[in-house]
Amino acid sequence: MLEFHKTKKSAAVLKHGIIDSYAPPFIGKTGSRSKGNRVAFIDGYAGPGRYSSEEEGSGAMLLRHAKAHAGMPRTVECHFVEEDADTIAALRTVVEDEGDGVTVTVNDGDISTHLPDLLQQCDGIPLFVYLDPCGLVIPFAEVVQIFDRPAGRGQPATEVLINFSAGALRRIAGHLTSKTPTEGTLARMDEVCGGDWWRQSWLVELPDKDAAEQAVVNGYAERLSKEAGHAGHWVIDVRQRAGLKPLYYLVFASRHLAGLEYFGEASSLGLEKWRRVSAQQAAVGTLFGDDDSWVENFKAEEARLKEEWIDTLANNLESELAKGEPFRVLDRYDEVFGDLAGVARGLHLRAAMKKVLAAGLTTTSPVGVKELLQLTLKPV
Ligand SMILES: C[S@@+](CC[C@H](N)C(=O)[O-])C[C@H]1O[C@@H](n2cnc3c(N)ncnc32)[C@H](O)[C@@H]1O
Repeated sequence: MLEFHKTKKSAAVLKHGIIDSYAPPFIGKTGSRSKGNRVAFIDGYAGPGRYSSEEEGSGAMLLRHAKAHAGMPRTVECHFVEEDADTIAALRTVVEDEGDGVTVTVNDGDISTHLPDLLQQCDGIPLFVYLDPCGLVIPFAEVVQIFDRPAGRGQPATEVLINFSAGALRRIAGHLTSKTPTEGTLARMDEVCGGDWWRQSWLVELPDKDAAEQAVVNGYAERLSKEAGHAGHWVIDVRQRAGLKPLYYLVFASRHLAGLEYFGEASSLGLEKWRRVSAQQAAVGTLFGDDDSWVENFKAEEARLKEEWIDTLANNLESELAKGEPFRVLDRYDEVFGDLAGVARGLHLRAAMKKVLAAGLTTTSPVGVKELLQLTLKPV
């Protein structure tokens, strides 16, 4: 854990990049009509709050957003839980130094113990729960209880972001094919996944362990969505560097369409920050690392990616328009975004829509449209 707190790794850049981009629309949107404009965050595995004076952890980041929205008016409440004594001491210092005017609780101990009480405190107001353990997360039944509050139109949003550890999954799943499996270890994963379904999901994909991992994580996200009352979900794989195996998966579940849309945008923005840090780290020790010349390469590569994504999205829109029926991208999300889900974002989609308009394939203009996914594109 000490290692982790010393320097922020690029995987953490992605995780924090996503939260940083997601918190403002979550606070802004959900708090516009909530009781007393209240919005709550529960950071269940809070960590030290900050890694150094320049590097925020989730704690410092949430406090910053809470303060930034105080005048809007929004009352953002942050509830932190942390069980390590040294870490919580560091977190308390961050809260003292940076939590001025924010309603904050810092809870010493296990998230499983504190969660029921905290859910009570956040009753009736929009809630975002962030569960970011270093290993296995709390049991499935405990995650599901977060959604055990009124759903539906007009009800406060309930959203959960979980760090699902790929390392823990691989290690425990190894027992499924071991000659000397430890049933207790397997049972611990059963608890996390809400049943032993994951064992079969893993085994049927073997010998492809990457596919096995995907099957379990996707199965987890689907079950969570269903138990949460048909929430939608995102699964984002988080790697230290491109080409390496995922360190963990971020599983996000929300019952609100707007939340899912904003999360896709936040994922795309987080990935851009991650590519930037990866490019900077890759340049260390090379000719480009001595000064800022890596920045030029990074910008050129980003410009290339942007063009490539706009072309891909425009081609996919063209295929959908060729079917001859009006459609919303929302209803054909997979067909239009494909592998670019969570990678490309609104600005790329807008440019792609303009491209098919300029090519005379549609009569619909995206200019001035805010909810792009909900825009009905009409074929010519
Ligand atoms: C990955 S770190 C958190 C990083 C932080 N959320 C961030 O984004 O900056 C996980 C933290 O959870 C704490 N922890 C582990 N098990 C816990 C539990 N059962 N309840 C509360 N905290 C726990 C660890 O001490 C550690 O500080």
